[in-house]
Amino acid sequence: MRRIANVPWGVSVASLVLVAGAVSVLVYLTGTNGIAVHFYYIPIIYAAFAFGDYGGIACAVLCAAFCGPWMPAEYSNGDPVPQGHWDYLLRLLIFYIIAFVASRASSTLKRRINETRRLYEVARSITSTLRLRGVLDLIAENAVAVTEAKACAIRLLNRNTGELDLTSYSGLSEEYAAKGPVSVAHSPMDQEVLANNVLQIADVRRDQRFQYPKEAEREGIVSVLSVALVIKDQPRGVIRVYCGRPRRFDAHQIRLLQAFARQAAIAIENAELYEDIRRNYFETVRALTIAIEAKDSATYSHSERVTELAVRLARELGVSDDDLEILRFGAMLHDIGKIGVAESAFDPSGEGPESEVFYRMHPLIGRSILQPVGFLQDALPVVIAHHENWDGGGFPQGLAGEEIPLLARIVAVADAYERLINPDSFTRAGLTRASALEILQAEAGRRFDPGIIRAFHRLLLPSAEEELNIGGDPLDEDGSAAEAAADQAGHEPGADEDPVPDDGEATEHVAVEDGREAVEPEETTDEEVATDSRQE
Ligand SMILES: [Fe+2]
Repeated sequence: MRRIANVPWGVSVASLVLVAGAVSVLVYLTGTNGIAVHFYYIPIIYAAFAFGDYGGIACAVLCAAFCGPWMPAEYSNGDPVPQGHWDYLLRLLIFYIIAFVASRASSTLKRRINETRRLYEVARSITSTLRLRGVLDLIAENAVAVTEAKACAIRLLNRNTGELDLTSYSGLSEEYAAKGPVSVAHSPMDQEVLANNVLQIADVRRDQRFQYPKEAEREGIVSVLSVALVIKDQPRGVIRVYCGRPRRFDAHQIRLLQAFARQAAIAIENAELYEDIRRNYFETVRALTIAIEAKDSATYSHSERVTELAVRLARELGVSDDDLEILRFGAMLHDIGKIGVAESAFDPSGEGPESEVFYRMHPLIGRSILQPVGFLQDALPVVIAHHENWDGGGFPQGLAGEEIPLLARIVAVADAYERLINPDSFTRAGLTRASALEILQAEAGRRFDPGIIRAFHRLLLPSAEEELNIGGDPLDEDGSAAEAAADQAGHEPGADEDPVPDDGEATEHVAVEDGREAVEPEETTDEEVATDSRQE
C-alpha cells in the first residue's frame, strides 16, 4: 500500500493506460468472449487501490470503452463476429463492481494499517518512556484519529476527592477543559462507565446522564463514547471520544477505544511501579545517609536539608525533571565519602597536612563507594565535584567554571548555606539567613557560580528579609529547624543575637568553605564552652 502511494501520480496513470492498451490489443486479437478481457481487472484494481473510488470507476469506464462495439466478440473462420448491445452494458457493470469492491477493500486495508500503526506507536511510547503525561497525550491524539472523532479526554479517578481529574485531552478547547470538576457522584454517565460498561450517548444535549450539556453544546460536542480504564480489575479512570454530530460508534471503533484504554492502563501501571521503585531507592539512600549523620546530632539530616534546598534552587534555575531526579540522589549522598574519613579530619582545630589530605579525599572515597551501584552512576559527578571552586581552587580535580557539573555547583551552594545556618559540632554558631546569603554573595565568582548565587539570592532573599523583620525562621514553617538550630547554637529561636556583625568583620571568622574549613578557630567564650558541653 505504501509503495503504491509512493509511486508518482503521472507514472501510475501512464502505466494504467499502457496496460489497458496492451490488454485491448489482446482482446482485439482474441475477441471479447475470450479470456483476455479479464486482464482488464488488473488496471481497474490497481486504479482503485492507487486513486480510490473515483480512480477505480474512471478506469473501469475507460476499459469498458476500450472494448466497445469496435471489438469483435469472437472470430468465425477468421471473420470477426460483432458484440451484442447487452455485452457492452454487462461488461461495464462488471468492471464497475470490481472497481467499487477493490476501492472498498483498499480503504479498509489502509484504515486497518493506520490503526495498527497508531496502536504500535502508542505501545512503543509506553515501553520507551515513563512519562505518563506524554503517553496519555499520545493516546488521546491517536484515539481521535482512529475513531474519526472530534476530540478525546482521559480522566483519572482521584480517590481522595471522588472526582475524575482531566489528565490529557486532544481536540478540546482550554475553556471546555476547564469547565468544572467531574464528580463521579454527580455524573451518572461516569458511574455507568466506571462499572466497566461501554457507554455511548448519541446526543448529549438531550441526555440527562451527561453532566455538562450546555458547555458541550458551546464546544460543538454532540455524541460521546466512553470506556473505563481498568487496572488490576479496579476502575481507575475513563477515556472518552467526542463527535460533533449524532453518531453511533460501531463495534470495531468501540474495540479500538478499549484497546487504547488498555494501553493507557498499562502506562499508568508502569508509571506507578516506577514511582514505587524510585521512592524505595530514594528512601534507602536517605536511610543510609541519616544513619551516617546520626553519629553527630548537629549534622543529623544535613544531607536531607541540602537536598531540599538544592532541589528548590535547581527549580529556580529551570533544571529539567530528569536532572532534578539525579540531583536528589547526588545531594543526598554528596558527603557519603566522609564515612571513610577519620573523625579528626572534620575538626577545624585539627592541624597538620594529614587531616587536610584525609578531608580532601572524601569526594573520591564517595565515588569508590557509589561506583558499583548502577542506578547512582548519574549522581557520581555531584558527589565528586561538590567541593570544586568556580575559580579552580577547589578539590579534588581543581575544575573551574562550567567544567564543574551544574548539579555539583548547585549542591555546593546549598551545602555551604546549610552549614552556615545549621552549624555542626565544630562550627558552634549558626548565622542568620541574611548573613549567610551575604557571605555566599561575597564568594560568587571565587568559590561559587555567580549565576547560581544570583538565583539563590532571588529564591531566599524574601525569606531572609522576613527573618530580619520578625526575628524568626521564616523558611521553617513549623519552627522546628529554628529550634534545633537554636538549641545547637545555644540560644532560643528568634533571638536577635547575630554571630556575624553587620560590619562584616565576623565574616572573616566564618568563611564558607565547608563545615570543616568554614570556621577558623576563635577564642572560646564562656557561652561557647557551655554550648559545647550541651552538644556533647
Ligand atoms: Fe563534602
